Amino acid sequence: MRIKVLGAAAGGGYPQWNCNHPNSRRARSSDPAAQQRTQSSIAVSVDGDHWFLFNASPDLRQQINENDVLHPREGLRHSPIQGVVLTNADVDHIAGLLNLRESQPLRLYGTNKVLDVLQGNSVFNVLNPKFVERIPLSLDVPLQLQLPNGVATGLVVVPFAVPGKVALWLEEKNKDVALAAVGEDTIALEIRNANQEIQFFYIPGCAEMTDDLADRLRGAPLVFFDGTLWRDDEMIRDDVGIKTGKRMGHMSMSGDDGSIAAFDSLRVKRKVFIHINTTNPVLLEDSDQRKFATKAGWEVSYDGMEINL
Ligand code: MLT
Ligand code: MN
Repeated sequence: MRIKVLGAAAGGGYPQWNCNHPNSRRARSSDPAAQQRTQSSIAVSVDGDHWFLFNASPDLRQQINENDVLHPREGLRHSPIQGVVLTNADVDHIAGLLNLRESQPLRLYGTNKVLDVLQGNSVFNVLNPKFVERIPLSLDVPLQLQLPNGVATGLVVVPFAVPGKVALWLEEKNKDVALAAVGEDTIALEIRNANQEIQFFYIPGCAEMTDDLADRLRGAPLVFFDGTLWRDDEMIRDDVGIKTGKRMGHMSMSGDDGSIAAFDSLRVKRKVFIHINTTNPVLLEDSDQRKFATKAGWEVSYDGMEINL
């Protein structure tokens, strides 16, 4: 199984377009210790020819151009991209779907809640329903992904709920937003091979580590995990925002209730942060926070990172 990190940054990317925070300035100045990153998404393939995107970021066009495995290979219209699996309806995870128009056969997987969001917004009909089948994911039910022609791929996903909230842009419609609800708004994916052996977990958004989640992850070979903020009040302290990580539905890396501490006893073999916000000092290769995370056994993903299992 091959995994390519197409984008490692959180919504807005690194640097975010309107961000003049020192982190973002360093990325803009081509500082080699502050590598730019596009918005979070990975591509996964069993055979190296047929790929599935896990989330479709607004930077998808650039990500396709930068990853030759995703380039058309045959005839006048072709794509190695066979489908997209969505973990929520956040802008940074669905806006890229609009790049996939032009009557290309695809399979689109998401929970009913997320598919309903797409259904309720007719702009997503640019994914011509004649060519793009939308397939509901049921929580905790393993599903083998299929090519658009129905052929099984050997790539099995087990969708499961993790604490999270409804997408930011849908908050108005959902008064009294629950910040760490466990339901169909935010899911994680356990990825297995055709023999049902666990290969890795994909969890770009998670509000807290529950006992259930810890039990699932214990001893896992590889976990990609929510790396949005270093500390919960980071954006407030740095004067670039008014929200805590918790308010955004993200647990932070540091602190007693942070992800680094939460994973400490889980014996996960390879731990990789993804969905990293433009303000997070872990993005800087020369920061103390990066040293701390590295010492705790974490890797910080970057665009183009490839993991072969
Ligand atoms: C998030 O991860 O919290 C969202 O992507 C925020 C956003 O929509 O900007
Ligand atoms: Mn996001």
